[in-house]
Order: sequence, then structure tokens, then C-alpha cells
Amino acid sequence: MNDVLETGILMRYGFDGPRKGIWKSKELEEAISRKLGCQYTQLVSSGTSALTTALTALGIGAGDEVIMPCFTFVASFESVLSVGAIPVLAEVDETLTLQPESVRQAITPRTKCIMPVHMCGAMADLDALMDIAREHDLILLEDACQSFGAKYKGKFLGTIGHAGTFSFDFVKTVTCAEGGGIVTNNEDIYQKCDGFSDHGHDHKGVDRGADLHPFIGYNYRISELHAAIGLAQVRKLDQFLAIQQKNHGQLKAVLSKIPEISFRKIPDPSGDSCTFLSWFLPTEELTRAVIADLKQQGILAGNFYWFDNNWHYFRKWDHLRQAATLNNLNELQRQGLQNLSPDSFPVSDAIMSRCVSTAIGLLWTEEQTQEKGSTIVAAVKKALAGSRVTS
Ligand SMILES: Cc1ncc(COP(=O)(O)O)c(C=O)c1O
Repeated sequence: MNDVLETGILMRYGFDGPRKGIWKSKELEEAISRKLGCQYTQLVSSGTSALTTALTALGIGAGDEVIMPCFTFVASFESVLSVGAIPVLAEVDETLTLQPESVRQAITPRTKCIMPVHMCGAMADLDALMDIAREHDLILLEDACQSFGAKYKGKFLGTIGHAGTFSFDFVKTVTCAEGGGIVTNNEDIYQKCDGFSDHGHDHKGVDRGADLHPFIGYNYRISELHAAIGLAQVRKLDQFLAIQQKNHGQLKAVLSKIPEISFRKIPDPSGDSCTFLSWFLPTEELTRAVIADLKQQGILAGNFYWFDNNWHYFRKWDHLRQAATLNNLNELQRQGLQNLSPDSFPVSDAIMSRCVSTAIGLLWTEEQTQEKGSTIVAAVKKALAGSRVTS
């Protein structure tokens, strides 16, 4: 980072002379492509702008439908709406990602893209979703914003569909403070991402003022300072993943002692990046009792009950259902959002209302991991005992 500050060139393009050969963004793009074994990486300013850029580069726009899960982050539908397309929500199953059957049912003549979101560090059932995409000639865009470093059957998430996106915001396994990236093996998609995220510049010469603009773009650039942070972080990826996997394994062993606790279905457990351990209780009442107990003890932090979360689960997205935008949506978008009602996803409600995700710390000692597990186990035992008394 100091070398960027010394040259004073904080921008990723241009200024070839004064930057004295320092190209942090390019260096990080190369490091990511090398690490993930893909052809191209385009860094941008956030995971949200990575999704918007990827959707645009994939040709998705006004009137197109994008199938996405009802458990994700708001950025998934924000980016779809931002390109003029219609987010079509589908159920999740116990993988906490798209339920393939619900995806099939959501397909219409307007469907252009399936967007699985690899939530909480682990993967969607990509074989099933890729089959559907192939059968219906659809684009598959992987939102791997939460799952950098995770793999499915030996391949890194994000590199399996037509394109994949990552977030490098502050809470991710690898961070740039703020940042995002698109990966693809398709040169045309990459070139479009490169131009679109920098006002449509063709980046053919050394004089930015003489660049041509084959299409209209925006400014979604990452800065050299953010890229420098990412570069230092990405070198530690294997170390971060190994610690997460160790702590995850230890915590899971503690929780496994309670037969009423079951765990998220992971299509390829060996590829889990283990940022979270997601677990289920048999009923919503029990789950709420455990959450209330942890909250009352002041130790809820790090245990996420997504069912009540305003960012991540459809049930709380009133602003989406009400189409509360600051400017006009197109007519098809408005109609699409009108079709959503709070009880649209009974399968997901039945799963998410029983699910808790415990974030895995990088700095936990073995003792602390055991202690966290024991606290959860005690709260679950208490809730189970309470439910036996009342039933
Ligand atoms: C699934 C998912 N998609 C997209 C994003 C957007 O990333 P950013 O915060 O970098 O814009 C996030 C961020 O947490 C996310 O979890």
C-alpha cells in the first residue's frame, strides 16, 4: 500500500509514467485468476456493482427475468432491478440455496438467467442448476459474493457458470475494505465487464482521452488502495480457510451431541469454506426460544437468525414487495413485484424459521470454540426441556 501512496497514483487505469510500474488492481486480478484457475477476473468497487456489471455484460436487461433465491442479500435483487430486469424469487431448500424444483417452476418465456447465491460460505446444488440452465438455454450467473475460496467438486465457486461474482467488503474472508470482482472464462464477457465498469472505455491505448467507447458504461472502478489491501489478503486465503475449517469442525462436533440439532445440507462438504456453521432445530418455537435465551444472556452476536433479518430474507423485504423505488420502474418490473406476497415461500419459511447460522471466528482458540458450542448446547437443552414441560 505504501508504494501506491508514494507514487500518488490511486487510480487503476492510466498515468502510466508516474505510476512507476505499480498496478495493484491488475496484480490482484492476476492473482485471483491464478488462484481460482479461471481465465479472467475484473475487479470493481463492490459485490453489488460486480453483479450489476456481470448482468449487463451477459446481456440481461429490460423485461428479462432472473431467477434468484428468496434467501440472499438485498444486493441480488437490487442489481437485477438496476439493469431493468425482473427478479423472480424461488424457494430455498436445506442447502440454504436455490431449490432446483422451484427454479423449474419459475421458468417462463422471459427467463434469461438463473442466479444461484452461494450463501454463508457454501455452494448451491450446481449440477442440478446447470442441468436446468442447459435444458432451457439459460445463463447461469453465480453470486459467490459470500463464498470466495469455496469449491464444488474441485472447482472454485464463481468459475463454474457463465460468470461469477465476489464481494470483498469488510466482513468477507478476503477483504479490500470495499471491493468486488467478476470471474469468467469467456473473453467477450470479460471485455464487456472491463469496459462497462469504466465508462465504456475500450482500454486499447495509453491515452485515456483517446480511448473509444463501443458502448455506454458507468464508473464501478476499484481504487489502487483497495486493491493493495486485497492483494495482501488474498495471499492468506489458504491460511484463513484452514483455520475456518478447523474451528467449524470443532464447533460442529460439540453441536452434534444433541440429536435434535441437524445441519445444513452441503452438496460437496469438502468444498465448504466454513465461514458459518448453519444448523436447524425441529420447530420454529424451539429456535426462537434459543435465540431469545442467547439474546437475554447478551451472547447472541455471531449467531444469525435469518428469518427475522431485514437484509437477507424475503419475509422482511417490504420495500421490494411495495416496489419502493426513488424513480420509475418499467411496467414489467412493477408487475413482477406485484405478484409477490408475504406467504409466497412456504417451503423456505419452514426451513429458515428453524435455521441459525453461527459465524466462525478466525481468532478463536480451541477452548473458546468449545465454550461457544457448550453455550449453544445449554440453550438448546433448556429450550427442549421447556417444550417438554409445556407439551
Ligand atoms: C450474497 C451477496 N451478494 C452480493 C453482496 C454485495 O456485496 P457488497 O457488500 O460488496 O456490495 C453481498 C454482500 O454481503 C452478498 O452477501
